[in-house]
Amino acid sequence: MSRSTPRAFLAIAALLSPLVSSQSFLLRGGLKVATSLNIGPAFETVLPGSTSPEAFQLTDAVLSNLTSLDLDNVTLFRFDDGSQPGTPKCKAFPGENAWPTAETWDTLDLLTGGKLITTVPIGAVCYQGEHYDAAKCENLLDKWDDSEIHTLDPTSMMWPLFQGLTCLPQNAGVAGETCELGGSPVHVINVTTVADVQLAVNFARNTGVRLVVRNTGHDYIGKSTGAGSLSIWTHHLKDLDFIPAYSSPSTSYTGPAIKMGAGIEGYELYQAADKFGVTAMSGEGRTVGVAGGYTAGGGFGPMTGKYGLSADQVLSIDVVRPDGRFVTADEQKHADLFWALRGGGGGTFGVVTSMTVRVHPRMAFSGMTFTVTSGTGADAALSNERLYAALAAYMRRFPAFADAGTYAYGTLLPSPDGTGHTWAMQPWLVPDMGLDEYRELVAPLLAEWKALGFPVEPEFFTTDSFLEAYENHFPSDLVGMPTVRTASRLIPKENWANPSLLNDTVSTLLDLVAQGSSLIFYCINGGRTPAGAPASAVQPAWRDAYMFAIVGTIWDAAAPAAEVERVNVRISQDWMARLRALTPGGGTYLNEADVMEPAYQEAFYGYDNYQRLLRIKRDLDPRSVFWAPTAVGSEGWYVKGQESWLTLQTGQLCPRA
Ligand SMILES: Cc1cc2nc3c(=O)[nH]c(=O)nc-3n(C[C@H](O)[C@H](O)[C@H](O)COP(=O)(O)OP(=O)(O)OC[C@H]3O[C@@H](n4cnc5c(N)ncnc54)[C@H](O)[C@@H]3O)c2cc1C
Ligand SMILES: *[C@@H]1O[C@H](CO)[C@@H](O)[C@H](O)[C@H]1NC(C)=O
Ligand SMILES: *[C@@H]1O[C@H](CO)[C@@H](O)[C@H](O)[C@H]1NC(C)=O
Ligand SMILES: *[C@@H]1O[C@H](CO)[C@@H](O)[C@H](O)[C@H]1NC(C)=O
Ligand SMILES: *[C@@H]1O[C@H](CO)[C@@H](O)[C@H](O)[C@H]1NC(C)=O
Repeated sequence: MSRSTPRAFLAIAALLSPLVSSQSFLLRGGLKVATSLNIGPAFETVLPGSTSPEAFQLTDAVLSNLTSLDLDNVTLFRFDDGSQPGTPKCKAFPGENAWPTAETWDTLDLLTGGKLITTVPIGAVCYQGEHYDAAKCENLLDKWDDSEIHTLDPTSMMWPLFQGLTCLPQNAGVAGETCELGGSPVHVINVTTVADVQLAVNFARNTGVRLVVRNTGHDYIGKSTGAGSLSIWTHHLKDLDFIPAYSSPSTSYTGPAIKMGAGIEGYELYQAADKFGVTAMSGEGRTVGVAGGYTAGGGFGPMTGKYGLSADQVLSIDVVRPDGRFVTADEQKHADLFWALRGGGGGTFGVVTSMTVRVHPRMAFSGMTFTVTSGTGADAALSNERLYAALAAYMRRFPAFADAGTYAYGTLLPSPDGTGHTWAMQPWLVPDMGLDEYRELVAPLLAEWKALGFPVEPEFFTTDSFLEAYENHFPSDLVGMPTVRTASRLIPKENWANPSLLNDTVSTLLDLVAQGSSLIFYCINGGRTPAGAPASAVQPAWRDAYMFAIVGTIWDAAAPAAEVERVNVRISQDWMARLRALTPGGGTYLNEADVMEPAYQEAFYGYDNYQRLLRIKRDLDPRSVFWAPTAVGSEGWYVKGQESWLTLQTGQLCPRA
């Protein structure tokens, strides 16, 4: 908080002493507010003795105490009274009369106990001006492609395209490049309690300011950012508790569980589970937000072949709804919300503050990693044709591998010299399998590869625990590429049942690769949900697939506009049309999909699920407090100033006529 606050207002705020904590505020000009004027966050301690975020809530009693102080702005923190919303209007935008005044923002800061941050883009340290810092800039450039530096920042997105590519550290000093907010939020609340979340949600709803929710900034299509918004940053919700004997209300599950705050990242969960002697589910990415967008979208990972998706592990969810009220949803209480929050996507139905998930016994993992590069250059040991033949042989065998519980993460990227491809398997493993059994599983393929003259030398491994496999045989997250687009499809089992369809499937994927697409392809079976797992909103196509395939490409940032458009349109329309034609009525994984996917409602959620999700959304959020591109109900709104072929988050959010 760095703006000045009028003294008169501070004096009023000082009356809030029953709500005091021991913070003090440094105002611009160096005026330090005396301790006797300390003002603190507005919350009631509802779980005495607990320090969990859920112990501190905004309640009607707190609001009525504030109201009795005759503070105008307090009405802006009221819960939704259920009155019918009027005609939807554009969200308030900076510079408009509807945008809250500095004093109004100060009130939000005061009531959250000083947790309001005014956005400074992560790259600002590289641009001349008040935030310039050569050493920090150098560090940022050095770590740009590592996800962690972005998770630690309140507003950075790992795929900066959606923020309009402004203020990139790499571009500082380039003629014409400036450091603007672009698609970043204007303000952020650095939440640590449920009350902070409630204050922010109520404030956004009552002021008409756009609200976004951001946890780590991993999102591939800009769902956790937005111009002219207030962002709820969940990163610091780091509580984690092991519950040795959890019992779900319907007793559909009794056994060990972990309750984690919304800010817990994949590797933090993996480490904690290891410490408690169990196995917990997250994804490949180290810093992916487990209880954030990851599980909300379904969430798949190395244990999926054995236990289904992360959404299938969820037992209970703590959430602040669009009306500002806090509830705990499970299969019996708030059952519709519980259903929607598992597969219906992040940033749509409320803000999750904590999640309780089932965990599994410690087990062995066996697998392999390898990297091979093909090319046409003089010293290429492997021709592209031979690589394609080896890939085809592998893909044809997916049913056997997926049925055995495989998680095989393959990437096929343009090779460094540009004449071929680098195929990396990082890794291909099977949970709960010993090395001998694993070698037996892959032996027929290795024999076929040998006969094809495919020169691969897999490194086999076996471990006693997941963490050991994760720390030694998984790559680090690579993020931050500015000009990249991806799109994806789940390829159903059916495509392997019919020989000519299988030929078409394999040859289409190889043809897209030959045309220059990168291919990220998982051999995975998402259909094995744990016993008693309640129904969820997960895209049903997940349950019936053998492959999840991602296509995409990068382009030259300096390319002429027409070329950029051509590359982008080719992905969403040409390449994807071919994958859609192979999988009629099918779908994809909304967390790793294309923002321009046509009929995304069906592709991301499934037709029936979408009808139900939309009813839940309208009932729960009639004022559209929550909005994100491709989220449930998002079709009613648009971001101003976008190309027909790409939606960024750089403009004002307005209702469609
Ligand atoms: C390097 C990398 C590796 C990945 N690996 C995997 C993988 O192995 N498996 C897999 O399934 N996915 C994977 N993903 C995709 C990942 O699941 C999505 O990017 C997901 O959206 C990340 O969620 P987040 O909360 O970390 O990200 P954010 O970008 O912070 O948020 C994503 C979405 O969730 C919403 N959201 C975040 N927190 C909350 C909350 N507390 N309450 C309500 N809404 C919230 C946001 O509003 C936004 O809509 C990977 C992504 C990357 C970049
Ligand atoms: C409301 O104010 C009264 C009087 O100062 C105080 O005793 C009470 O604890 C406050 N209630 C809440 C919920 O803050
Ligand atoms: C908030 O309070 C300040 C100071 O009392 C006042 O100037 C401002 O108009 C109020 N804003 C709203 C939206 O009520
Ligand atoms: C956010 O809050 C956490 C916890 O109080 C604190 O450690 C951190 O410094 C804050 N971050 C920013 C950028 O204000
Ligand atoms: C599919 O391709 C294989 C290998 O190229 C070929 O032997 C087979 O005849 C094809 N099958 C069909 C039904 O086209």
